[in-house]
Amino acid sequence: MPSEVKQLVIYYFSGTGNARNVAKWISGVAVERKIPTEVIDIAMIDRKHIPRPPAGTMIGFVSPTHGFNYPPVSMYFLFRFPRSNGNRFFLMNTRAGLKLSKWFVPGLSGLALWLSAIILLCKGYHIVGLRSIDLPSNWISFHPGVKEKVVESIYGHCKRITVAFASRILDGKRVYTAFRDIIQDILFSPVAIAYFFMGRFMLAKTFYATLDCDRCDICVENCPVKAIVIVDKRPFWSYRCESCMRCMNNCPKRAIETAHGYITAAMFLINLVILVLFWRWVSSLVTLPADKGWLKIPFTFARWGVTFAGLIVTYRVYHYLLKIPLVRELFYYTSLTRFRFWRRYRPSKKMISELH
Ligand SMILES: Cc1cc2nc3c(=O)[nH]c(=O)nc-3n(C[C@H](O)[C@H](O)[C@H](O)COP(=O)(O)O)c2cc1C
Repeated sequence: MPSEVKQLVIYYFSGTGNARNVAKWISGVAVERKIPTEVIDIAMIDRKHIPRPPAGTMIGFVSPTHGFNYPPVSMYFLFRFPRSNGNRFFLMNTRAGLKLSKWFVPGLSGLALWLSAIILLCKGYHIVGLRSIDLPSNWISFHPGVKEKVVESIYGHCKRITVAFASRILDGKRVYTAFRDIIQDILFSPVAIAYFFMGRFMLAKTFYATLDCDRCDICVENCPVKAIVIVDKRPFWSYRCESCMRCMNNCPKRAIETAHGYITAAMFLINLVILVLFWRWVSSLVTLPADKGWLKIPFTFARWGVTFAGLIVTYRVYHYLLKIPLVRELFYYTSLTRFRFWRRYRPSKKMISELH
């Protein structure tokens, strides 16, 4: 017979509210059972000095999935999390759920739950729950925000799943629903690794503030990782950016866009000019023997390094060029997100009002 839960502490990271709402739904179930419960936003605490959980406390962690993994801020949090006192721990990730006709289509977790479960097992925790929740996708750099009606429907479906999960976990049962996806998760693991080391930095560089920005600084103040800084009297997205989408979805002036045109031009410049010149220079120094294919590995890393450096330089340059009206116009007219039909993402209004 598993010992009862004396206290529940749920930590979460959330860009646009999905993971936060899952944490709140679970705390609602615990409160109904009169279990003392705390819900903690990891963006609001000192993540380097997390108190060790007392024995008998169950811990939960909820975070969105970014590039088939937890975002780095969540991974670093779990890395630094204190060792277990014999505690139980459950892990959840919110993913990009869709609804096609009447079917709910799940997102993809990749390494999100598996890497973090390994970290926590090494710290001595008993993992009692691993579950993904397919709330609506907030990735509006890629697609317009999901329609309100669909958001409400997906939210209702996910709330039922989350409450059932919480009830089972608090009854002392173990729920490992994530094992259903393990094969596809393993298949996506190389993409997760590439995204962690490269992809997210590129995405951070796709945001810019248009002329509609009136410097209200809501984006700067609300950024959960303090990645937006003011440079040259304009918001500038630094490499700390997790691309969580909070800034873009919450801007009251709709003045934050994804610079699709810029990223295409930068990639063109880097791949067809800078990298070609780089390879010519490398070939003039060394000749790669055809039978030693493995020698290509350091060159692949060098290529990534050049791409990365190219992005840093081009983004800095573009940022300053934004002062020129023509460049501003070019940026604006090549951003898909500027179109009115490209909705911003808002979590379910109905469900949020229930939480307050
Ligand atoms: C940069 C970025 C990458 C994402 N990558 C994935 C992914 O790999 N798999 C997935 O299912 N959803 C992915 N999503 C969707 C989010 O995980 C999903 O919408 C989540 O519920 C958002 O939670 P939040 O509102 O708490 O931030 C991604 C979203 C963003 C912004």
